Amino acid sequence: MECKDSDYSDRMYNPTMIENLKTPQKSENTVWHQASISRTQRETLNGHRSAIIWFTGLSGSGKSTLAHAVEQELYEVGCHTFVFDGDNVRHGLCGDLGFTEEDRTENIRRIGQMSRLFVDAGVLALTAFISPFNVDRQRVRMMVENENDFIEVYCRCPLDVCENRDVKGLYKRARKGEISNFTGISSPYEEPDNADLVVDTDQMTLDDCVGKVVALLTKRSIIYP
Ligand SMILES: Nc1ncnc2c1ncn2[C@@H]1O[C@H](COP(=O)(O)OP(=O)(O)O)[C@@H](O)[C@H]1O
Ligand SMILES: [Mg+2]
Repeated sequence: MECKDSDYSDRMYNPTMIENLKTPQKSENTVWHQASISRTQRETLNGHRSAIIWFTGLSGSGKSTLAHAVEQELYEVGCHTFVFDGDNVRHGLCGDLGFTEEDRTENIRRIGQMSRLFVDAGVLALTAFISPFNVDRQRVRMMVENENDFIEVYCRCPLDVCENRDVKGLYKRARKGEISNFTGISSPYEEPDNADLVVDTDQMTLDDCVGKVVALLTKRSIIYP
């Protein structure tokens, strides 16, 4: 599956950047085996298109809550879905990675590749990762075939609200210096500049946020009314 540069002509990429964003390949002498069942056939069977719905935002901004709530809604209308959640993935696939910039980048690269396989499988893959760096999110965007295969949803929420929520007690520990490289405290969060959807989770109800996501998926003809 190749990225078509033309699909991204209206974005801020140039050919050199696109080249830099591609995953380097060390495994030589490997030949792609063409599946006999195509993505389109799987999508037809499922009755909806597949895509990555990528939730990004600070810790406590509502990524997991929203991803699972959207999944519930989609499940109820018969969609095939799967949620990749940051903490869960770090127990297995990415358990060898920490929170340095390098490890965060590798974490997102692996999730991107995994989600992309789910797109090939005809599934709506919902991901809930802080994914603080623009370049890492852009790299995932570049992995997919079509523009509508990657829907970036920014869960926007001011740091002080996230910190007050402190769902997992991590902000308190980060403030005490017990956790290093904590996004928003001791590690940066780069706000998306080309998100497909922004939801203000400090101002909107969860139901309203779910409604916005589902409406966008319908508008983009990923799911059908
Ligand atoms: N509109 C909203 N969308 C998502 N979460 C919300 C919203 N309003 C309040 N919350 C609350 O914010 C918290 C977000 O926590 P969580 O989903 O674990 O965040 P994250 O996965 O981004 O770290 C939850 O306690 C959730 O109930
Ligand atoms: Mg979460």
